[in-house]
Amino acid sequence: MSTTRITINPTDTIATINPNIYGHFAEHLGRCIYDGIWVGEESPIPNIHGFRKDVIETLRRMKVPVIRWPGGCFADDYHWQDGIGPRSQRPRRINIHWGEVIETNQVGTIEFVQFCRLIGAEPYFCGNVGSGTPRELRDWIEYCNFPVSDLSGSTWAQQRAADGSPAPLDVTYWGVGNENWGCGGNFSPEDYCTEFRRFASFIRGFGKKLNVIACGPANNDVEWTDRFFRKLHKDYWPFNNIDGFAAHYYCGTAGTATQYTEEEWYRLLEKGLRMEELVVQQRAAMDAWDPTRKIGLIIDEWGTWHPVEEGTNPAFLYQQNTIRDAIVAANTLDIFNRHADKVVMANIAQMVNVLQAVILTEGENMLVTPTGYVYEMYAPHQGAQSLRLRVETPEIHFQKTKILQTSWQSALQKGEKMEGNIPAVSGSASIRENVLFISLTNSHVHEEAEIVVNLLGDARAERAQARVLSGEIHAHNTFDAPHQVVPQPMTVDVKNQQLHVVLPPASVVTITVVLSGF
Ligand code: AHR
Repeated sequence: MSTTRITINPTDTIATINPNIYGHFAEHLGRCIYDGIWVGEESPIPNIHGFRKDVIETLRRMKVPVIRWPGGCFADDYHWQDGIGPRSQRPRRINIHWGEVIETNQVGTIEFVQFCRLIGAEPYFCGNVGSGTPRELRDWIEYCNFPVSDLSGSTWAQQRAADGSPAPLDVTYWGVGNENWGCGGNFSPEDYCTEFRRFASFIRGFGKKLNVIACGPANNDVEWTDRFFRKLHKDYWPFNNIDGFAAHYYCGTAGTATQYTEEEWYRLLEKGLRMEELVVQQRAAMDAWDPTRKIGLIIDEWGTWHPVEEGTNPAFLYQQNTIRDAIVAANTLDIFNRHADKVVMANIAQMVNVLQAVILTEGENMLVTPTGYVYEMYAPHQGAQSLRLRVETPEIHFQKTKILQTSWQSALQKGEKMEGNIPAVSGSASIRENVLFISLTNSHVHEEAEIVVNLLGDARAERAQARVLSGEIHAHNTFDAPHQVVPQPMTVDVKNQQLHVVLPPASVVTITVVLSGF
């Protein structure tokens, strides 16, 4: 068993953890929207206005703050007017990105906002830049947000009222395109910047403060960021209609979703931890152009991306989810917490049945994945003050094959062996009034990790409780055995300014500590 020493001063705060860091992403892709969250009002599966009751209840427990919709690549081929009016009359379109299946538009704007309200989340809509127009985006905002009264109201606001919502939908997060360096139009950073400025010029809040979000880089492509801001600065400054800049980072896979060696376990965790490098380098690149930090860094798609499950439609991106995915999720959320002064939103991809989902469904059955339990366990961080923490932990060394080139689903590897290393224990901490909340992971496949937490300053720990999520390194939940990996209570020893806890191998642990005297 190794020992990790953690030092925390409960007054040494970084910033408030924006709850939106715990955001999600739901695209019209595979079985995410249809089957996953929507079954329709006529379904024998219990539902509220067509949305699955079991999914709603589970997401409420996770305290989902925000959901990005309708894509993804789908967004730049989506025309919002297809998803309004009577459902029986909505057009049937081809989902060109995801298997050329028929999109029935049964879940449109009003339905999706209704779903968000049912779970207590804010909608974050991604506008269509690639195949759409500034007018289309501006009209969508008007449809959603312009007030209507008996005597007045615009045509779009009256249409919304006729569709069932006289009250404005108050959608305040608006993305200007998705992956415009790729599926969203294949733009260069300069060309996208020109498009962004054109679209954003017509965005109006109609009395509400909107958050306008520009498309950031693929992975940690600092050049995209630099060239986008250079162009914005050179030709269009001061340009105030930009609040967020959104990168995407999928750490990919090593092995498959459920079959991997110990080396592959570590390799994937290492790739997941590269999110820190992305955040550090992207925020530095943004600081050069936005030194007063008005623009927030967003990671509005992130997660693991495994090879498709046998027997499933390859275009549907369905994958299982083990304790390994849970540790990737926990490490990533810890990174965002530690950068709470810059990261304002993050959206795991995706919510249900697609990629690193928090929920899987099959007919009337539903299960929470290990990643989903991480979201439940980490919820107390939302809105708390992030704390600086010093972690002295041993490194885990492992062998890996030299990677020459990576894409999300595969890596071009060369036979040459290299050594990789990751910290045995990672984590973050936050404080709300006198309650300290610590989250930790033990990445070691066999060894327990002894943790000694020392509190600095006048704070004393009165009492503490902890929860642990752990299992054999391939452990996961199935529809036959949905409770293989679920959080369990665990004990923490508390002595004045010291906490003592032992993390099992391959685990995620959260500790709640009530403090006095600070
Ligand atoms: O999440 C799946 C896809 O990954 C999204 O549609 C796209 O934005 C990204 O390439």
